Amino acid sequence: MALLNIVKEGDETLRKICKPVREITPRVLTLLDDMKETLIDADGVGLAAPQVGILKRIVLVLNVETDEMYELINPEIVSREGEQNEMEGCLSVPGKWAYTSRPAKVTVKAMNRNGEEVTYSGEGLLARAFCHELDHLDGVLFTDNAVHVLTPEEVKEIME
Ligand code: NI
Repeated sequence: MALLNIVKEGDETLRKICKPVREITPRVLTLLDDMKETLIDADGVGLAAPQVGILKRIVLVLNVETDEMYELINPEIVSREGEQNEMEGCLSVPGKWAYTSRPAKVTVKAMNRNGEEVTYSGEGLLARAFCHELDHLDGVLFTDNAVHVLTPEEVKEIME
């Protein structure tokens, strides 16, 4: 396993559309392992492959309530319900936080590392993480459609 470099806003990789995974190769499995290690090391709740420079439709999302790490290959949101407007950040956009409008609950369908179809539903933070990470696969950052990006003064206040 290896720690991967997380690219930052301004890197064009973050603005590309990622390609579906056609076959789960040893390379894909290594990428999943390395992304997991990188996400844990960065203390984040989600990481998408383009954030480590790989344009494949792969994301990891941590369920902070169960401590379960979801590995999602070719994920799709298959249902959305309600709305929430909470604060988000991103490992690729350090120092920035924004209130972002997301569904209150989402269901995601994907493939796991064994090539099996998996479905996960999440509310609250988990729903936001699913949406945020899937956006990365289409070159979208949370600040793009944010309701309100926090000013440096507001960030300072939160950090105190
Ligand atoms: Ni992000």
